Amino acid sequence: MRRMKFTGVGAYVPERVVTNHDLEKMMDTSDEWIQQRTGIVERRWVEPGLENSDMAAKATLAACQDAGCDVKDIDLIIYATLSPEYLFPGTGVVLEKKLGLTRTPVLDIRNQCSGFLYGLAVANGMIASGMYQRILLVGSELHSRGLNKSTAGRDVTVIFGDGAGATVLEATDEDKGLIDILIHADGRYAEDLTCLLPSARVEGFITPEQVARGEHYPHMAGNKVFKHAIVKMPEAIQEVCKRNHLTPRDLDVLIPHQANLRINEIVGRALEIEPKVFNNIQKYGNTTAASIPLAMRDALDQGFLKPGHLLGLTAFGSGFTWGAALVRM
Ligand code: ACO
Repeated sequence: MRRMKFTGVGAYVPERVVTNHDLEKMMDTSDEWIQQRTGIVERRWVEPGLENSDMAAKATLAACQDAGCDVKDIDLIIYATLSPEYLFPGTGVVLEKKLGLTRTPVLDIRNQCSGFLYGLAVANGMIASGMYQRILLVGSELHSRGLNKSTAGRDVTVIFGDGAGATVLEATDEDKGLIDILIHADGRYAEDLTCLLPSARVEGFITPEQVARGEHYPHMAGNKVFKHAIVKMPEAIQEVCKRNHLTPRDLDVLIPHQANLRINEIVGRALEIEPKVFNNIQKYGNTTAASIPLAMRDALDQGFLKPGHLLGLTAFGSGFTWGAALVRM
């Protein structure tokens, strides 16, 4: 089986910074509450005219530049997002058009905060089988236009931010790259972190009454999500380490999905590797499918993540879905 390595990592965030103090002007919340409960200080929101696929395109070009390849050299695009531009088709083809490509296959992934890890697992299978040589995996989210910016939506709205991350993944014979990956899901919790509308269960997919009641906004049983996340992410890292005859202490860096700084601190403590955990949620909030590649780019730029490092990745989110991966950088 052929290995898959990361040859390029790119990121893009919109220019508009929205601080906790900005949110205080929209809803009954406070900088103190948000920082204490989530660690978030600010996040980015798009300006009118910038779309999910625009952010993805900018992150893609940065990733290709980092990899030293052209977008024409990509064999497959995998696009992870929970904030698509259309109900269908998936946003992947919109990105493809913006990249000037006309034949590249595109696969859209709907696994929310675990979307990047699910995409990585799919890419790994395709590269290991010899089907493709070079895959672009993008995570991009435009949450800000779909959030309830009144007090009724404060538990969800203060958490999420916009942004994109992209990676170029290539077949390699070198002894580096993805060592192992595992993904899990438990659909019993599908309604605990969800956006129910528009929906094929509803005639016309959505009604004006539903919109008036605000039922089209995301809903989260925050406490339940929190409690599962702090168990499932350490479990997944332990599982992937164990089956590779490693322990979490062998990791040089752990990049968990950026949902809540408190969650990541608990994960770090549970694995006894707290100083090795990289976080940038303070600047960007929860960017869902984009959060891991965005954090990888920041960790590389800051020298926290270096060539040769053993990197652990883990995520947990809506579905519930979760997973973990080991990467030799
Ligand atoms: N500002 C001020 N007060 C608030 C806010 C806010 N933004 N949001 C909620 N509150 C209030 C609540 O109304 C509640 O008040 P009450 O006690 O009078 O009823 C109080 O604060 C406590 O609310 P909790 O929900 O119990 O607060 P908690 O400490 O659980 O923190 C949070 C909430 C931050 C949402 C937390 O539960 C969390 O991070 N959950 C996990 C989020 C996550 O991981 N999501 C997964 C990824 S997302 C994805 O996959 C799409």
